[in-house]
Amino acid sequence: MASSSSCSSSVSFGVILVWLMSCFSYGNGCYTSIISFGDSLADTGNLKQLGSISNREVFPLLLPPYGENFLNQSTGRCSNGRLIIDFLAERLGLPLTPPFLQDNGNNNMVTFKQGVNFAVAGATALDPSVLEPRGIVNPMTNASLGVQLAWFKQSLPSICGNESNCRDFIGRSLILVGEIGGNDYNYPILWGQPIEEVEVLVPLVVDTIISTINELIGMGAKTLVVPGNFPVGCSASYLTVCGSQNEEYDPKTGCLVRLNQFAEYHNKLLQTKLKQVRDLHPDVNIFYADYYNAAMEIYRFPYKYGFTNGALKACCGGEGRYNVDPTVQCGEVSATVCDEPDTHVSWDGIHLTEAAYRVISKNLFSTPQFNSLCSTSTSGVGLSGSL
Ligand SMILES: *[C@@H]1O[C@H](CO)[C@@H](O)[C@H](O)[C@H]1NC(C)=O
Ligand SMILES: *[C@@H]1O[C@H](CO)[C@@H](O)[C@H](O)[C@H]1NC(C)=O
Ligand SMILES: *[C@@H]1O[C@H](CO)[C@@H](O)[C@H](O)[C@H]1NC(C)=O
Repeated sequence: MASSSSCSSSVSFGVILVWLMSCFSYGNGCYTSIISFGDSLADTGNLKQLGSISNREVFPLLLPPYGENFLNQSTGRCSNGRLIIDFLAERLGLPLTPPFLQDNGNNNMVTFKQGVNFAVAGATALDPSVLEPRGIVNPMTNASLGVQLAWFKQSLPSICGNESNCRDFIGRSLILVGEIGGNDYNYPILWGQPIEEVEVLVPLVVDTIISTINELIGMGAKTLVVPGNFPVGCSASYLTVCGSQNEEYDPKTGCLVRLNQFAEYHNKLLQTKLKQVRDLHPDVNIFYADYYNAAMEIYRFPYKYGFTNGALKACCGGEGRYNVDPTVQCGEVSATVCDEPDTHVSWDGIHLTEAAYRVISKNLFSTPQFNSLCSTSTSGVGLSGSL
């Protein structure tokens, strides 16, 4: 049912009929579902659930004030409120994407028909077997991208039944692959490994993302949204841990130049490889979600977007130039929290506030490039909803 029409264009009766039927069978958006893989930028509750399964001590980022502005509780989202994936779901007219890991005995499979999220806060793209020989041991979770993909494959029969139904389900889903890979670099860099040593991981991380995308295409994926990395040189944690008189700062933003160049290196390689995938699969839509430049816009012009406390100082944390104290984490009793998170870009030093995620989502998903994915997707139904 390939159709290039959009809901707003003037079309023949037959096309309108097809469109009406599409709207009936596919809900009010382009896609029937969001399937998501990634880390804390997209986790809507998996790490929280993993923590309770393993009876481990609770991570501070699962406690208040995380989530204080959203549903008035900690859902396991690493922000004060909603994440980019939540704004995306709202825009597509879909329910918020539920975490794959649910309470024991709670049969929630039916809710996965409109979305399922495998992202786990702290997850890396690479498996521990690749990272550990390099001295990188994940303190939060071993649910790497490969593990998340395995969960997806295992759960398919209960979500969509037989193989042909599942191909159909996957083909009508918007699949968010990432952001992932940031933690592969965060752990070693924040632990003091030289950036030059961490750089050798970039091609490995990008290849892992690309092979995951190829597997998903093999399973029937037709629309993939692949985010790049954020400008980590602007994050309050990196500014606190890596900043020094010897480091170069961008005079316009105050961000660390070398770390932003590192993020751009990952992003450029990812885009080069995505182009190769597109060339091989012209029938598949692959949207590169440019988190880097969407965020840089805020770091360059924080006042324009209402971030009157500047773009660099964290809202939740401790003492210090950037409100980050490596010995006090947001979520711990001794942490301080700002009164107006909406005036900050940085929530806890690493993650952004809901207000920042809202602006980024708007800049990314209100664009003609993103909307055009919809008109060429299999359902051919126009986008509805707004941010
Ligand atoms: C959120 O929870 C706090 C503490 O439990 C309570 O004081 C506050 O009224 C709640 N706010 C909303 C909007 O429910
Ligand atoms: C990840 O796996 C390694 C062994 O490969 C283990 O030592 C480590 O504790 C695990 N990390 C978590 C957070 O489960
Ligand atoms: C898959 O299941 C659907 C019913 O849900 C059925 O109509 C279809 O024939 C099945 N396809 C195969 C290949 O078994």
